[in-house]
Amino acid sequence: MRKKIIAGNWKMNETPSEALKLVETLKPLVNNPDVDVVYCVPAIDIVPVVNAVKGTNVHVGAENLYFEDKGAYTGEVSADMLLDAGVEYVIMGHSERRGYFHETDADINKKLKKALEKGLKPIVCCGESLEQREQGITEDWIRMQIKIAFSGVTADQAKGVVIAYEPIWAIGTGKTATSAQAEEVCKSIRETIAEIYDQATADEIRIQYGGSMNAGNCKELLAQPDIDGGLIGGASLKPDFGKIVNYKD
Ligand code: PGA
Repeated sequence: MRKKIIAGNWKMNETPSEALKLVETLKPLVNNPDVDVVYCVPAIDIVPVVNAVKGTNVHVGAENLYFEDKGAYTGEVSADMLLDAGVEYVIMGHSERRGYFHETDADINKKLKKALEKGLKPIVCCGESLEQREQGITEDWIRMQIKIAFSGVTADQAKGVVIAYEPIWAIGTGKTATSAQAEEVCKSIRETIAEIYDQATADEIRIQYGGSMNAGNCKELLAQPDIDGGLIGGASLKPDFGKIVNYKD
């Protein structure tokens, strides 16, 4: 059985002092040993949040990393910096980074390999635009994103990766994919992993759905056989996040 992973993606929200208040608010609400709970936070919030969640079940993630080890890359954050600050997980390839900051599939492949080499747990995002969905190329597009991202990654490494399927048209729009739409693509992602590696790897890898997941729709989405968790933006900044973590109650 794959353990569910519920990750908040705070995006560019919460100053360090606001972050501490949010951690305090959420503390009594996110206690569920059956689920991996992760807060992926802005780089400047990492150190205070790592300290604030000590002794709780919450793990901390970053929202990005750079694929070089160190040097003249002004403004970037390396895997070693994240690890030294106490980070365990790292998101890569979020559609906002692809869209606003021109990240390519090849960049995401380099980031994935670097994170794995260093021992960070990657959350690799993929997803189609509304136009691509209407053109009927959703699965082809996502298969391509996954194949490029995982190029040169071994089966053993792949087992520890989390994939987040996030249809771009559902992010921050309040327009959630139906559980059938989300399941269809998550299943196809698992088949792609089986094709690249083998069934054992596909059975072990965890696949999240993301895109306007909230306290109301999480139960049905998380009940799908190929959906092993959620990557949650807007609702991760509210007490609602606790309801998603405890989706079974
Ligand atoms: P949302 O964001 O939950 O606000 O739609 C999800 C994400 O971008 O990870």
